Amino acid sequence: MAGDGAGDSQGHDTDESRREFLKIAAAASALLAIGGIASVMKAVIFPSIPANGPSSFPRVKVASVASLSTGVPVEFSYPLDNEPNYIIKLGTKAEGGVGPDGDIVAFSDFCQHLGCSWGYVAPGSSSKVNPSYVAPEPVGYCPCHGSIFDLTKSARVLGGPSPRPLPQVQLEVDGSGDIYAVGMGPPSIFGHNTGSTNVADDLQGGTLVTTTSETS
Ligand code: FES
Repeated sequence: MAGDGAGDSQGHDTDESRREFLKIAAAASALLAIGGIASVMKAVIFPSIPANGPSSFPRVKVASVASLSTGVPVEFSYPLDNEPNYIIKLGTKAEGGVGPDGDIVAFSDFCQHLGCSWGYVAPGSSSKVNPSYVAPEPVGYCPCHGSIFDLTKSARVLGGPSPRPLPQVQLEVDGSGDIYAVGMGPPSIFGHNTGSTNVADDLQGGTLVTTTSETS
C-alpha cells in the first residue's frame, strides 16, 4: 500500500523528534564540557582552601591597660603563633584605639612592602636609620626602604614603597581592663589575602593562637 499519509506524517514527526533530541543532547554535552574546563581553570587559578583550616579569628588576651606605658611597644603573636604584632599606647587618640583614652592600637610587625620589621617613632623623634626625618605624629618607620605608617590613622602609608597599610589588630577591653585581640584586617598573614574577603584565605600557614600571650 503506497501513500499512507498518516504513516509519512508519523515518520516525519519521529525524525523531527530525534533531531531535536540530538540537538539538545549536543548542547548539554557542550555545556558539561565548558563546566568541566571552568572547574579545572578555577582549581588552577584559585587553589582550594584546606577544608580543615581555621575559618574565624580567636579571641585572645594580649595585654592589659595597666601593663602598657605610653610609647613602649609590646610584642604578641596573633592570629597564628608565628605571627608577631605590636600593641602600643600612643598617647594620642587613634582610629580603632581602645582603652580610656582611645589610644591603644595594635598592628602586624610586617611592613607590607617586603616584610621587614618596622620600628616605632614617637612624635618629634627620628628613626635611627633616617635622622633627618622627624615624625609629625606616632608613626611606624620601616628601616629597609623607608615606608612610614601613621599609627593614629590605621597605619595609612605616609611615605615609602609599601603598597598598603600595616594590618591592624582589632582590640576589645573588658571591664577589668584586660585587652583582647578579636580579629585582624587583611592580610593578617604577610603575603596572604591582598584582595579576597574570605577569612579562611588569610589564616593558613600556622597554628591559631588560643591562649594569652601576655608575659607581664
Ligand atoms: S620592607 Fe618596608 S619599606 Fe621595604
